[in-house]
Amino acid sequence: MATQQEVFGHGLAVITGAGAGIGEGLARHLAGLGMTVVVADIDEAAARRVAGDLPAPGRGIPYAVDVRDGDAVAGLARWVRSELGPVRLLIANAGLQQFGHLWDTPVAGWQRVMEVNVNGVFHCARAFLPDMLVDPGRSHVLVMASIGSVVSMPMQSSYIVSKHAVLALAECLHQEIGLVGADVNVAAVLPGAVLSDIFSSAGGVEHGDVDAAERHRRDMFSVRERAISPAEAGETIVEQAAQGEFYIVTQPDMVLGAMRSRAEQLAERRSPAVFRSRFVPQNDE
Ligand SMILES: NC(=O)c1ccc[n+]([C@@H]2O[C@H](COP(=O)([O-])OP(=O)(O)OC[C@H]3O[C@@H](n4cnc5c(N)ncnc54)[C@H](O)[C@@H]3O)[C@@H](O)[C@H]2O)c1
Repeated sequence: MATQQEVFGHGLAVITGAGAGIGEGLARHLAGLGMTVVVADIDEAAARRVAGDLPAPGRGIPYAVDVRDGDAVAGLARWVRSELGPVRLLIANAGLQQFGHLWDTPVAGWQRVMEVNVNGVFHCARAFLPDMLVDPGRSHVLVMASIGSVVSMPMQSSYIVSKHAVLALAECLHQEIGLVGADVNVAAVLPGAVLSDIFSSAGGVEHGDVDAAERHRRDMFSVRERAISPAEAGETIVEQAAQGEFYIVTQPDMVLGAMRSRAEQLAERRSPAVFRSRFVPQNDE
């Protein structure tokens, strides 16, 4: 079985949303293994801070980009190719949350989630894959899905919809790469709970049941009790990617449990039960 060092000990990685959280944890871990990491983030100051502080023997290069903008992502891909060379590892990680009842969700909040979490990954695939398909040697694409890709949950419908979509995108992309026979490994990453800014930066609602949206935000903060650090997430994700897993999970107990519940719910045609908190399905409803 290949080691992390063998697979990811050299070459170039591009990570979107690497200015914080899981993306930052991945950037730190990959630089420690020896990769040059393009720290791409909408927050230019965060990208600079992380890129300037990555551990040797690797190094970081900051790049400000909004993954919602397909032309900007294409510009990133062109710049990386001309200045740095072929990409060995692309991690489409940028993503954000939105809380509140579906009927209270602002149109702009819904669109922001879809544009970042789904369109952002599509733009990365369009911008980087044509070169990665023909470059010599194996390359890797990690698509950041979520435990939310395999559960349905109230009060964050836009996020759940986006993460179901992005898991489907990764599964389709994996098959398309198989069809053309290119040497590109595509994997879907399903984190369970990782300490990050995602709940504090999440959109809320302006009209309707504002309290319910904020109560849900507070409930989600309680998930932190079971959260791992971005550093641990980075190491776990890279380890499983090196082993060639398609479904990469940060916390097997939590995420595989959710996958099994989902599979059983569908196979047994059970109506969705209210999923209250801490990712524990309430089957008695
Ligand atoms: N933290 C968790 O428990 C958890 C669980 C499952 C999945 N995820 C997924 O992991 C990914 C990273 O989340 P995180 O928890 O590290 O969040 P985070 O909020 O800590 O970091 C997200 C980063 O993405 C950047 N970003 C936001 N919009 C962007 C845009 N339009 N273009 C470029 N960059 C943008 C932010 O500036 C930030 O640096 C997301 O896709 C998220 O859905 C996280």
